[in-house]
Amino acid sequence: RGGGAGQAQGANPGFARGRRLRSTPALRRLTAQTRVAPADLVLPVFVKEGIAEPVPIGSMPGVVQHSPDSLRKAAHEAAEAGIGGLMLFGIPAEKDAVGSQADAADGIVNVALQQLRSDLGDELVLMADLCLCEYTDHGHCGVVTPAGVVDNDPTLDRYAAVAIAQAQAGAHVIAPSGMMDGQVAAIRAGLDSTAFTEVPILAYAAKYASGFYGPFREAAEGAPQFGDRSTYQMDPPNADEALREVAQDLAEGADAVMVKPALPYLDIVAKVAAAVQVPVSAYQVSGEYAMVEAAAANGWIDRERAILETLTAIRRAGAGQVLTYWAVEAARLLSR
Ligand code: PBG
Ligand code: ZN
Repeated sequence: RGGGAGQAQGANPGFARGRRLRSTPALRRLTAQTRVAPADLVLPVFVKEGIAEPVPIGSMPGVVQHSPDSLRKAAHEAAEAGIGGLMLFGIPAEKDAVGSQADAADGIVNVALQQLRSDLGDELVLMADLCLCEYTDHGHCGVVTPAGVVDNDPTLDRYAAVAIAQAQAGAHVIAPSGMMDGQVAAIRAGLDSTAFTEVPILAYAAKYASGFYGPFREAAEGAPQFGDRSTYQMDPPNADEALREVAQDLAEGADAVMVKPALPYLDIVAKVAAAVQVPVSAYQVSGEYAMVEAAAANGWIDRERAILETLTAIRRAGAGQVLTYWAVEAARLLSR
């Protein structure tokens, strides 16, 4: 163009000025493509039988095993903060081979569900994690054969019984996490054989055998006493299999599905969200929490900023709901 006569300098530089929409907090807020709302967040909670005071979990600073009373208080605070719901895990005083306390009417998790339901009514969605590993003396998610193999089909009968007990106790949602084949069908059939045809199932559909569950096993006291969970939870390299698990759970009657863990599996979250027309949750697990807390405790990262960034990333990947141990704190940060 030669001398550029009459052209203001920089007016037409031949590149897009992406910075224009980033220049103020208000512009960034207005144009943000992903939002995290308190209502999207679900707080996993642990309630332990036989304790009078909450017990801190060493590997999860800020998270405790609740007593029934401290859980009721925490649930009120969670409702106050406007989060979407709670996911309950129980730790019984007595464990046995079949996890009897999971479906005992006076079992810790069922008593806690009753109390929370009568305290809060429908104010928070009360989800019951349905598994046997916190309730079995061997720490596996199902019943085991004498040879020590987790036995799929007999476990299904146990799961159906636990689902009915949890619904009876007041759970709004039943969330099976044991990764047994056919678990959703068995639980649906169990619920439908009772009055609980309207109780939805949130299936932990794509749950990977993950190293990031370490701190949870301290929290829930459910570490396997032999072997590991690799024969029933998914193998981390696999993505197609996640879509197959999700499709299978939906075919069996799941109302919503979950991917777990979250951050190391955002590709799976995105694929599942693109493939289905039901709510997709992601579970930001104990090891994800511990990593951020440990780095922040060392002064290596900005804790609040990292927390909100992880939650935004999980929503951006396509999750509608996020289970996170930061749910209440994040809700407060988001409402400020
Ligand atoms: C057990 C269960 C686990 C978690 C939720 N339910 C652990 C496991 O499968 O070993 C993990 C949650 C977390 O790490 O925060 N069925
Ligand atoms: Zn389990």
